[in-house]
Amino acid sequence: MPRAKATAAAGARVVLAAAAALLVVFAAAGQPARAQLFSPGPLSKAHASLEGMGNCVRCHGEGARHDNARCLDCHTEIRTRKDAGRGYHARLGAQTCAECHAEHRGVAASIVEFKPSQRAFDHRLTGWLLEGTHKKNDCKSCHEPRLVDADDARRLLAEGRATFLGLTTVCARCHFDEHRKQVGERCERCHTSTDFAKAPLFKHDKMSSYPLTGKNAKVECKKCHGSLTDDVTPAQIFPGPQSRTYAQFKDIPHGNCLDCHDDAHNGAFGRNCTQCHTTQDWRTILKATSTSASTTRRASRCEACTPMSTARSATGRSPVRRHNSRA
Ligand code: HEC
Ligand code: HEC
Ligand code: HEC
Ligand code: HEC
Ligand code: HEC
Ligand code: HEC
Ligand code: HEC
Ligand code: HEC
Ligand code: HEC
Repeated sequence: MPRAKATAAAGARVVLAAAAALLVVFAAAGQPARAQLFSPGPLSKAHASLEGMGNCVRCHGEGARHDNARCLDCHTEIRTRKDAGRGYHARLGAQTCAECHAEHRGVAASIVEFKPSQRAFDHRLTGWLLEGTHKKNDCKSCHEPRLVDADDARRLLAEGRATFLGLTTVCARCHFDEHRKQVGERCERCHTSTDFAKAPLFKHDKMSSYPLTGKNAKVECKKCHGSLTDDVTPAQIFPGPQSRTYAQFKDIPHGNCLDCHDDAHNGAFGRNCTQCHTTQDWRTILKATSTSASTTRRASRCEACTPMSTARSATGRSPVRRHNSRA
């Protein structure tokens, strides 16, 4: 095998040398059809415009070898990525382009071959592993023109070429920000690519301004996070939202228990509920502290705080459903 190849290559060099010599003659004589005599076969559809003796040197250099640098002179979209160390081709070793992109096999022959197949392409080779749901996606769901940002790739698309270039790995580029800018665009702080309905990486205590303690930590999310409606986002936007409604994650007053709880005492003990209460249980009353001694003493005499009102407080500042333990 290697011997046969070497012989073929040596033969090819002779042919090319002859072609180069004849080039001058035939070019002058205006007989481009002769080119086929020296070429091992017609070029692919993609390079069909490069047929002809005058164009051999666009791909073949000194000594007839096909030359990576010449391919890259045209394919600047690959060159800039290789130079920047980005993308699939930048991760290849010192191979020749021809090892993967055969030529002269006819107009119909494909010069791009995915191994083992396009569907089974190991996406890690691009520098971005497909995980979770992404693994099951159609290539086209992501490699879709509207998600292409890079200017050079957009130009290729405009010229009618299908390309895998030009995407970014930024979640928010391909997914509508369901939270409408409330929590920033770095989705990966809270989500993985498995299922948006869950936010496995979100930790309420560390990542919000309101650590949940005691009974509050056992409350259903939606009791504190009401639903808002988006009337602004245009319907035809791409990528589009999953839903018109979304959870309120910001501007939820929470400086005081009263922001969410009714005052069972109708203002009798002021606004500083934590003087006597914790989030563990309304019934467990804190021992008197120096600052709160007198009020606590008053409260501990049952008559001081009767009647225990269940009237709804009227601060009207919280969008969260008002309630108390008996409501
Ligand atoms: C678009 C680029 C391109 C153009 C233009 C082109 N070739 Fe090639 N040529 C190649 C590639 C790539 C190979 C290697 C193919 C392979 O290994 O399957 C090749 C291989 C060859 C070979 C076999 C020797 C070898 O190096 O493997 C000969 C002979 C050859 N070309 C001659 C020509 C001649 C003559 C012309 C002009 C009429 C020409 N080629 C134009 C890309 C080109
Ligand atoms: C003179 C400029 C030029 C040179 C030199 C050139 N190409 Fe191309 N190549 C093109 C153009 C233009 C296209 C896009 C054609 C189209 O969209 O149909 C293309 C397309 C391709 C494609 C994509 C084909 C497809 O089906 O999607 C590959 C792969 C490719 N070239 C590899 C090479 C390699 C390897 C070399 C060197 C051996 C080379 N090219 C040399 C201009 C060039
Ligand atoms: C979930 C979205 C997604 C899916 C699905 C996806 N890709 Fe990609 N692909 C990307 C992103 C994002 C990049 C850019 C990675 C980078 O530059 O870091 C990329 C890059 C590539 C590249 C590298 C282009 C280059 O030359 O640098 C190839 C090739 C590719 N994908 C092929 C495929 C194939 C084949 C499939 C289907 C089997 C597929 N992709 C499915 C998002 C996706
Ligand atoms: C190890 C095999 C391999 C080598 C070596 C290789 N390529 Fe590729 N090339 C591929 C595969 C697979 C694709 C299809 C995925 C893609 O488009 O990025 C591709 C795609 C391309 C494309 C089309 C990119 C697009 O999506 O628009 C061009 C142009 C190209 N290669 C040029 C080159 C050039 C120039 C060289 C040499 C510097 C080269 N390739 C070396 C495997 C290879
Ligand atoms: C290049 C585009 C692209 C990028 C980048 C991307 N995705 Fe996706 N993702 C898709 C497409 C397309 C789908 C399938 C269609 C859909 O459900 O939106 C999908 C599906 C998903 C799904 C499953 C669908 C669902 O609603 O549960 C999750 C979860 C997901 N992506 C999370 C992420 C996260 C997290 C990131 C960032 C780390 C990310 N994606 C980056 C394109 C992308
Ligand atoms: C600070 C954490 C955080 C960030 C950042 C974040 N999310 Fe979420 N996301 C959540 C939580 C929490 C839920 C609700 C999950 C639950 O109920 O357990 C959610 C739910 C979703 C849902 C499901 C629909 C819904 O309203 O329940 C989608 C889709 C979604 N997020 C997309 C995104 C996208 C896209 C980004 C980035 C632009 C993003 N998220 C950023 C925390 C976050
Ligand atoms: C007892 C009330 C309460 C409960 C229950 C609650 N939260 Fe919160 N959450 C808050 C408050 C208050 C904030 C802070 C809002 C603000 O900053 O204006 C907040 C903030 C958040 C944020 C925004 C984080 C950021 O980046 O600022 C997310 C996301 C969130 N909560 C998700 C959840 C999820 C998921 C659950 C259910 C597992 C949940 N919350 C249960 C009260 C609650
Ligand atoms: C951001 C809103 C919010 C804040 C602030 C808040 N809570 Fe709650 N809390 C709730 C919600 C919602 C429930 C669940 C009530 C239900 O299930 O009806 C709850 C439940 C409780 C419960 C369990 C008994 C009950 O009433 O259902 C206690 C005890 C409690 N909170 C104490 C406190 C105390 C003490 C403070 C102040 C230190 C406080 N909470 C601040 C929203 C809040
Ligand atoms: C001076 C101490 C004191 C202060 C301050 C105080 N409470 Fe109380 N609270 C009590 C006592 C005592 C009880 C009765 C406990 C029992 O029934 O065992 C009580 C009971 C409650 C109950 C349970 C009512 C029921 O029907 O079981 C709620 C709810 C409550 N308080 C809310 C609040 C809120 C909200 C604040 C802040 C505005 C507040 N409290 C401030 C002492 C206090």
